Amino acid sequence: MVSDGQLFPVPEDWAGKAHIDAAAYEAAVARVESDPEGYWRDLAARLDWIKAPTRIKDVSYAKDDFRIRWYEDGVLNVSANCIDRHLPHRKDDVALIFEGDEPGVSDKITYGQLHDQVCRMANVLKDLGARKGDRITIYLPMVPVAAVAMLACARIGAIHSVVFGGFSPDSIAGRIQDCDSRLVITADQGCRGGKKVPLKANIDEALLQCPQVEKVLMVRWTGADVPVVEGRDVIWNDVREAASPVCEPEPMNAEDPLFILYTSGSTGKPKGVLHTTGGYLAWASWTFESVFDYRPGEIFWCTADVGWVTGHSYVVYGPLANGGTSLIFEGVPNYPTPSRFWEVVDKHKVEIFYTAPTALRALMREGDDHVLKNDLSSLRLLGSVGEPINPEAWLWYHRVVGKDRLPIVDTWWQTETGGILVSPLPGATALKPGSATKPLPGVKLQLVDAEGAVLEGATEGNLVITDSWPGQMRTVYGDHQRFFETYFSTYPGKYFTGDGCKRDADGYYWITGRVDDVINVSGHRLGTAEIESALVAHDAVAEAAVVGYPHDIKGQGVYAYVTLKADATPTEELRKQLVLWVRHEIGPFAAPDVLQWAPGLPKTRSGKIMRRILRKIAENAVDSLGDTSTLADPSVVDDLVRNRAGAK
Ligand code: WTA
Repeated sequence: MVSDGQLFPVPEDWAGKAHIDAAAYEAAVARVESDPEGYWRDLAARLDWIKAPTRIKDVSYAKDDFRIRWYEDGVLNVSANCIDRHLPHRKDDVALIFEGDEPGVSDKITYGQLHDQVCRMANVLKDLGARKGDRITIYLPMVPVAAVAMLACARIGAIHSVVFGGFSPDSIAGRIQDCDSRLVITADQGCRGGKKVPLKANIDEALLQCPQVEKVLMVRWTGADVPVVEGRDVIWNDVREAASPVCEPEPMNAEDPLFILYTSGSTGKPKGVLHTTGGYLAWASWTFESVFDYRPGEIFWCTADVGWVTGHSYVVYGPLANGGTSLIFEGVPNYPTPSRFWEVVDKHKVEIFYTAPTALRALMREGDDHVLKNDLSSLRLLGSVGEPINPEAWLWYHRVVGKDRLPIVDTWWQTETGGILVSPLPGATALKPGSATKPLPGVKLQLVDAEGAVLEGATEGNLVITDSWPGQMRTVYGDHQRFFETYFSTYPGKYFTGDGCKRDADGYYWITGRVDDVINVSGHRLGTAEIESALVAHDAVAEAAVVGYPHDIKGQGVYAYVTLKADATPTEELRKQLVLWVRHEIGPFAAPDVLQWAPGLPKTRSGKIMRRILRKIAENAVDSLGDTSTLADPSVVDDLVRNRAGAK
């Protein structure tokens, strides 16, 4: 049994060596209170500014005076900060290590080479008509050219919108349309776990719905024979050599947009989370150095895809802003065998390793031998991100991978927060398995109840943040009203995270998971509403309700209740078809794990679906359904319980 009290102190060999020790943490927390202006100015000074900011922070979460601005008169360029500034002393240092899907395929890219590639691509993008402020959609595999594409956009001041390679043509089309991209960067195919991903074919299909897209820049990666559309498609490999390797970085205002990243919310279609230039980079850069105690020359590996925010901040921007070496892995944890992660650690002598609990749980199940047959002595720090890590997985990570000696930083944050907000600092914080521990200096957390009353001491409630930090998102692209409504209207004057959280007597925070209709499946964030609208788009479906349920490996699984139209018959065949349909509509990772036929859904008399009851049935907690008397037709619940599908 793991108790809340089990404490892992800062290891002896870390004492006095980390960037931030316990005293420095306390000092930073105190300074941000006594001299916020100075604290945040110093934090921004880690970047190279064309014009240093004098106006540091201008924030109000109030409805009639709502604004979030950081470093607003500063001028800088993100690609210059991630590349050019390192050239004088680090030109031949490795910026990116590439490890391919197939073992044996790897590559190294120095800062000098990265500069060359980014400038060439930036010039190609300009030739294709891209200008400052344009939105460029990137749909690439986890290969170095993905980082090159992001940095090339940043160099010319274009706003990138990276779409994860697992998304379907429909999902891509929705994202392209929402931000009105005219240019798309993709590859012929990707490789994952020995299989090919038809990236270009997906783009071709998506673009049938996006007539505004004028140009597609396609990277030849696998060399597959894919259709090329005359006049629209340009092949990167063919134009690269002729493009100039000189491209002056565009001077950007700190508050100019850097990227849009679509993420799921409780309602409606995915939101385009918008991050800006100065605050985002300052926060990604500072958190990378502090949380991972990073020093240039060390090999850092974050296993996240660049299609998610973790890949943005801790594969690309954080490491490169620090002149670091970041490993980009194309593959998956269990291909060709469940030893793959650990073989890669040994091969490249990885020092800091950052992954998701879902991967750890899957690997843990395969047995310790896959880990133990590797050396792993290069490792000095482990990290976790994306979902709550259960203490069992934490302890396994610590014992088997970390040999009982490596600290684990369990980092809590969100697409919206730009970078890590709650995490241990490895040289400062005693660890508790399953707790993200304490907020970073300057991050002001509160727990509130459903009515917004502030809860003190050891307690449990909804997690809100009462003041801004530089990496905070600035708006929902094209819908500023939705930004305010989603995050700042539930608890006026505060940012609502959507997460539930406990605080123990030592002031440690324990994230308990989403309290809204967002689910976290294998670390992928999904809106139940999106899956529901995919289901009802099928001819046979009248209505659908989707909830999450606890899943041993994925953290949460997708449980769908489906009401068919009167003329449709609930067969096994149709069940399979509907699962495939969701895969096709959204992407494989959104496919329901369980699909139960529901002749009726539990609704209140005003027609609202009572998800609380559906969650309980999915969890098989049918004895604690609570009060069902307010339902329009309580008998539907009996049917759902009787015919509950065998959720694992
Ligand atoms: C969850 C990923 C517990 C949380 C960076 C959050 C976590 C959502 C942790 C954001 C963690 C992320 N412990 N829960 N260490 N990290 N989460 O936007 O529910 O993909 O709200 O960002 O993941 O997911 P997103």
